[in-house]
Amino acid sequence: MKIGVAADHGGFELKNTIKLFLELRGHEVTDFGAFELDSTDDYPDFVIPLSRAVAEKQVDRGIAICGSGVGASVAANKIAGIRAALIHDHFSAHQGVEDDDMNLICLGGRVTAFAAAEELVMAFLNARYIGAERHERRLKKIKELEIKNQ
Ligand code: RB5
Repeated sequence: MKIGVAADHGGFELKNTIKLFLELRGHEVTDFGAFELDSTDDYPDFVIPLSRAVAEKQVDRGIAICGSGVGASVAANKIAGIRAALIHDHFSAHQGVEDDDMNLICLGGRVTAFAAAEELVMAFLNARYIGAERHERRLKKIKELEIKNQ
């Protein structure tokens, strides 16, 4: 799978850990930065380019990390076509894909430990959108809102 990753200083270490974890499992990982630890950097500068790449299908899924995961989630969801959520639990990591077609997972580098983050990422990547009528109906309402807000 083609996966994009991005993080600010708050998620820098976790991003590098997740990137290596995914590469070792044969995934093609595109890193949208940050490329060095800079305590003054801003998460939108990395999360927005990643989100655009996911929306334009240059990568299949995205992983965005900041300190809490909140800012990454707020920024990612500003891009049309992105369905991002801050995830702390295994159920939401896969159900968000199955029901809501979540295409970008947000994690908190200061909140979620490395091993737990790897489990959440695997649940996210292994999940597939079910696409039942009720799911499609709900996503259609969101897509209509995105078009209206353009
Ligand atoms: C940066 O210090 C921190 O505010 C950011 O990484 C993130 O937690 C925002 O939601």
